[in-house]
Amino acid sequence: MSGQDPKFVKGAFAKIADRYVMTNHVLSMGTDILWRKKVGRIVSGWQPSKILDVATGTGDLALEIQRKCPEAKVLGTDFCPEMLAHATKSGVQETQVADAMNLPFEDGEFDVVTVAFGLRNMANWEGALREMNRVIAPGGHLLVLDFSQPRGILKKPYGFYLNKVLPKIAGLLTGQGDAYQYLAGSIGEFPSGQAMIDLFDKAGLPDCQCDPLSGGIASIYSVKKEG
Ligand SMILES: C[S@@+](CC[C@H](N)C(=O)[O-])C[C@H]1O[C@@H](n2cnc3c(N)ncnc32)[C@H](O)[C@@H]1O
Repeated sequence: MSGQDPKFVKGAFAKIADRYVMTNHVLSMGTDILWRKKVGRIVSGWQPSKILDVATGTGDLALEIQRKCPEAKVLGTDFCPEMLAHATKSGVQETQVADAMNLPFEDGEFDVVTVAFGLRNMANWEGALREMNRVIAPGGHLLVLDFSQPRGILKKPYGFYLNKVLPKIAGLLTGQGDAYQYLAGSIGEFPSGQAMIDLFDKAGLPDCQCDPLSGGIASIYSVKKEG
């Protein structure tokens, strides 16, 4: 497995767009807000002036980055117009419909590229990493926030929650239980920890740092592009 079906993904997000933010906060018990705040702090430490948030969806991460980097230009892109409409309405500075597999930008246009819970849904994970790397300036940064696999005592209860409980709650909240069954499956198939670091390496991004969050339920992967 190296990616997901883009037609299915676009359709699934179009269906849940109106309830995406509320459902996220319920399912993660608000933890997703803390994860995005942490990403905002990391990004602001890099003092970027031009930031691209790929697969921005409803714009939650782009908005957090805007708050932490008030001087920077922030652009949010997504290939699902229904999701992006919420980002525009919520106040993301600039939004643009764009496929992450083929970004409509010049090489090295951005100081920082971020992607939260988006890479996992793309058609080719290695290809997407290469494409995001292409638009980063030498010495700039790529940051990926996504679900990962917890280890140790959390592994079993989390697996039960993810596969059995979460799709039921999400089905009640959105009427789209299938989209959330997909979420559980996609997390199982997605590289985690060292496997993701190896994928970064393969995509031409050596020395990726992995920072597990909440016992490893999610992780921040960040890398500085050679300058
Ligand atoms: C789980 S949402 C994440 C949204 C947002 N980044 C967040 O943190 O809440 C995943 C998003 O990835 C987008 N996406 C998936 N594949 C994409 C691609 N190839 N190009 C652009 N957007 C894509 C979907 O449309 C969806 O809005």
